[in-house]
Amino acid sequence: MPLTFATSDEDAVPVHVIDQTDLDGFLSKQDDVVRGFVRSAGFTASLGSTLLLPDLSGGLSMVLAGYGTSEARARSRFHLASCAAALPKGVYALHGLPSKMAQQEALGWLLSAYSFDRYKSQKTHEAQLVAPKGVDAKRLEVIAKGEVLTRDLINTPASDMGPAQLEAACADLAEEHNANISVIRGDALLELNFPMIHAVGRAAAQVPRLIDMQWGDIGPTLTLVGKGVCFDTGGLNLKPGSSMGLMKKDMGGAATVLGLAHMIMGTGMKVQLRVLIPAVENSVSANAYRPGDILTSRQGLTVEINNTDAEGRLVLADALALGAEDNPDLMISMATLTGAARVAVGPDLAPYYTDDKKAADALEAGAQKVADPVWRLPFYDPYEPMIEPGIADLDNAPKGGFAGSITAALFLRRFAGDTRYMHFDVYGWNPSAAPARPKGGVGMGARALLEALPKVLK
Ligand code: BES
Ligand code: MN
Ligand code: ZN
Repeated sequence: MPLTFATSDEDAVPVHVIDQTDLDGFLSKQDDVVRGFVRSAGFTASLGSTLLLPDLSGGLSMVLAGYGTSEARARSRFHLASCAAALPKGVYALHGLPSKMAQQEALGWLLSAYSFDRYKSQKTHEAQLVAPKGVDAKRLEVIAKGEVLTRDLINTPASDMGPAQLEAACADLAEEHNANISVIRGDALLELNFPMIHAVGRAAAQVPRLIDMQWGDIGPTLTLVGKGVCFDTGGLNLKPGSSMGLMKKDMGGAATVLGLAHMIMGTGMKVQLRVLIPAVENSVSANAYRPGDILTSRQGLTVEINNTDAEGRLVLADALALGAEDNPDLMISMATLTGAARVAVGPDLAPYYTDDKKAADALEAGAQKVADPVWRLPFYDPYEPMIEPGIADLDNAPKGGFAGSITAALFLRRFAGDTRYMHFDVYGWNPSAAPARPKGGVGMGARALLEALPKVLK
């Protein structure tokens, strides 16, 4: 699949992008045959519609891409991706696209080529685009590749994406970008004081681990922490089958920070990057951690386990504590942390938390610009008592489930110390196909962050 733009615009078939309100104007400049054909075909330039026009020898002379109205466009993103997917193999060039939409549509075109084909014979989809004027083609290619990495990691089932394979994927990424990587595995987690990562992961066939990747030696320090639960059975508080079905995606936070790391390294951002991924499987065995157990975290706070299915915050807590130890300028966690986040904002929006108004403003501006929507939820201090039960410092699963995403975020914040901190409670999955975003694993928030980080870190 072509994740790159065409290298030459020679013989590119023109794709005319037509706002529905401009169709008559466009047709008035065409000859009678074209005008007649467009009318006979019933083409109205509605959003996502595509019309192919032949030349006199049966070739493809041009394509019309319906661009709908601004109201229709406000209801979706990547409006030309369905057109891209409908076109035969060839090279295409866009005409009439408003320049402020060029970036988004060009990226959507690249991503329209994505399909998860690891277990399938390849489907060919090769409508390659000439990079529109004014877009940074190299940057968009890096972004597309980062997003594809995220999707592939999430889509790969746990049978081929356990902690060991997630570690291997990190090693591949580190090698590609000349980053350093170290991994603490199994009992070494106990010796080096990561008790909660060990407790959650110890019942699985593949030993739990903490992956630590570092890149770059100039600029501000940035630490990304991603939830790498390669499969979440719920543990002894076993999930019912209907809830467990999709839990291969519970390493979606790790997949998203790795996609973002690729974007940061591939665009040469001036940061000193650290990526921490606790990679575990939340499984069931004789040595599984239990409801009622009290764990002492790396940071020192004790945690009463009231539900072994609230495992993500436990493994993240030890990783965040490590991250905070060398006081980075910014620490960001991404995690498929709660079902409550999905109930609150649905699968499209990435809810995030921060106490830093400047970071939030920059992120929202970035999100708007690159069509990667986010929504701020509060670190609401008055809910702190909900995570403080009877006999330990913290409770991993407050009863009642009120504000489940907020209480999980408050739990994590306890481990970030004084570090400037942002947390994303992502879904990592697109439940129904949309342009440039097929059903399945999907990155959320990474592109918005890539856009915002230079401002946040300034
Ligand atoms: N991985 C799940 C959260 C999840 C579930 C994300 C479904 C997206 C879709 C997480 O480990 C979990 O099970 N959380 C529990 C927490 C509860 C026990 C406090 C939840 O959200 O139900
Ligand atoms: Mn769980
Ligand atoms: Zn989980």
